[in-house]
Amino acid sequence: MAAHITVMPSGHTFSAEENDTLLEAALRAGIPLSYGCSSGNCGECLARVLSGTVVRVRPHDYLIKEADKNKGAVLMCAYSAMDEVVIQAGIAGADDIPRQTIATRVKAVEPINEQVRALHLMTPRSQRLRFLAGQSVLLEVGGVAGEYYIASCPCEDRHIELHIRRDSQPFSQQVFAGLAKESVVQLTGPDGGFVIQLDSRRPILFVAWDDGFAPIKSLIQHAMSLEVAESMHLYWLADTLAHYQENYVRSLADALDDFEYTLLDGRADPAQLVEQVLAAHPDLSHSDIYAAGPAGFLASLREAALGRNLSILGWHEEVM
Ligand code: FES
Repeated sequence: MAAHITVMPSGHTFSAEENDTLLEAALRAGIPLSYGCSSGNCGECLARVLSGTVVRVRPHDYLIKEADKNKGAVLMCAYSAMDEVVIQAGIAGADDIPRQTIATRVKAVEPINEQVRALHLMTPRSQRLRFLAGQSVLLEVGGVAGEYYIASCPCEDRHIELHIRRDSQPFSQQVFAGLAKESVVQLTGPDGGFVIQLDSRRPILFVAWDDGFAPIKSLIQHAMSLEVAESMHLYWLADTLAHYQENYVRSLADALDDFEYTLLDGRADPAQLVEQVLAAHPDLSHSDIYAAGPAGFLASLREAALGRNLSILGWHEEVM
């Protein structure tokens, strides 16, 4: 039977199957708990059980002090929940996550259209990439490197999706020339602070320009898994690229009551585009905006949004 866990003080909740460690189950739910080795050695995943029953399901070498044990201290990577459990645990922000270098393998290169490939990578069985939705990584294969945004959710365990556009960059050319399945791609990261604010429950407007859709897709999936937004509306502006994963976006809208999307032609006049994005939002005082695209467009959108009462704390941008 699944156990139900609440994390304090953040208030996040998640379920865990029997023998799932607290850490595994939380990460699968997209909750970025603070941790280190994930194997019982570093002590960075120490949490305090406030109520409920936990049992040890993995060995650990890290010694918990007797005084801390008496106050309910456990290692989240070694303990499992048995019933309704409330724990006090830290949530990691972008600055808390160390840069990692991982030898990933190509699972597939998906030809989405003439201009975009979805590169699907897998981390080794015993290792997952720690990152937050919206962050980027450096990829290197055959002596060429390129920086790309992760398009998948941190809740997807070992799978990492990246969108590679056709351009003159050597890494892009390598991908479009063909990358064999199981090729090793060296991944270093994550980088960047374009991440979801976990303490907000306000409606979110996501705005993506071309392959700015990659970090936005990751953010949408993460927001869904954490249930952080009251509602979500995606505006996707296609300029030189098409709306290359329109089917995915449509399937989300079909499946979810609180997700809508609008596809726009990014070749229109910039002022008109800003107006189109904000047309249905006369008052943004209770909203957040996450926008990824070119600097000029973002500056115009920000100014217009602030003019509609958006708090500056609700504006999150990534210049691409
Ligand atoms: S993450 Fe290192 S001991 Fe749990």
